[in-house]
Amino acid sequence: MIIKRYTLNHFRNIKKADLKLENGLNLIWGVNGSGKTALLEGLHFLNTGRSFRTSISDHLIHHDQTECTLAAELTDSDQQTTRIALQKSKRHDIEMRVNHTKVSKWSELARWIPIQTISPESFALLLEGPKMRRAFIDWGIFYQYPEYHKLWSIQKKLLKQRNALLKQQKSQQEMLPWNQQFAQYAEKLTKYRKSYINSLNEALQGIIDKFLPQFTFVTEYHLGWDKNYPIAEVLNIQYERDKITGYTHSGPHKADLKISIDGRPAQQVLSRGQLKLLVCALKLAQGVLLHQETRKHALFLIDDLPSELDQQHRLVLLQQLKAIGAQQLVTTIEPKAMTNVLSQTPAKVFHVEHGQVSEHK
Ligand SMILES: Nc1ncnc2c1ncn2[C@@H]1O[C@H](COP(=O)(O)OP(=O)(O)OP(=O)(O)O)[C@@H](O)[C@H]1O
Ligand SMILES: [Mg+2]
Repeated sequence: MIIKRYTLNHFRNIKKADLKLENGLNLIWGVNGSGKTALLEGLHFLNTGRSFRTSISDHLIHHDQTECTLAAELTDSDQQTTRIALQKSKRHDIEMRVNHTKVSKWSELARWIPIQTISPESFALLLEGPKMRRAFIDWGIFYQYPEYHKLWSIQKKLLKQRNALLKQQKSQQEMLPWNQQFAQYAEKLTKYRKSYINSLNEALQGIIDKFLPQFTFVTEYHLGWDKNYPIAEVLNIQYERDKITGYTHSGPHKADLKISIDGRPAQQVLSRGQLKLLVCALKLAQGVLLHQETRKHALFLIDDLPSELDQQHRLVLLQQLKAIGAQQLVTTIEPKAMTNVLSQTPAKVFHVEHGQVSEHK
């Protein structure tokens, strides 16, 4: 899917914008505070129902307004058009539509565009807790295996139910059938994740050679429980501890992806710039794998590319994205910093000024 048209109304400082996007590189430039990140954030929000900058979605609505709308028109290789839209108002819940029909789950919007965002906040993937890394893995599986989302939702529900039963102080005996069910889904989910990580590793190796050739990385999936025992047994053994806190301490909801260099966590070994390169390599590897396995094209939102990567790596990243046919929205403060890239890649250029977007001829 390629986004042909993207419209925003009253989103952040953007009162009204209508962008006709190119298949390949779309470059957005403007001074500090003009609205570049807002344009990327809008697409991310339309895709996931969440912002990558704030957890308070009311902040996304223009200060003077009570609601904002976002919409994207997508076309597939058969030129079939799909319209996804979202309306967020201060008084009501988010309203989502696909081809003008209301939908109730964010996954029904998300499934249309595999979006990868690279921004200064992307560091969190390696520096913060495992939640983002689990989301990272699940992203890849979600777009590759349509059945995965249901499995993931059931597992989430089972965890909630188990925690509720623990809070009700159910006996160890009473918990046994729940443990069994929980374990059954935990094992299924884990199988997908382990197999995905294996394939991702292969895709990553080729990319790492271009980004950080001086290091050898080892990527390991941690189950979220002691790997020497089946999860059903772990739940039973940990019953007393779980009951005290009313919380399930082990399971795929505690899983993690650990990346190491010579036995030490990558976060301890790499410089900040190198960490950025690793984040880019990981996200790019997902795009490559997605394309390899499904022929789907990811959409890459890259905020302030020149400050994220040096000249050489900017080129490498954009060349790799071009090779997998990924559409890109890239922002920059200084278009001169992108001259090198623009001389090699045709791009559509947009200029943003005080929230007004114009196409640069
Ligand atoms: N809800 C809102 N309503 C109106 N304006 C807002 C709202 N939220 C943020 N802004 C303003 O929108 C402007 C654009 O912010 P944005 O972060 O998109 O700028 P930017 O072009 O990415 O800047 P930089 O180059 O510094 O990253 C800022 O001036 C900010 O104060
Ligand atoms: Mg910005």
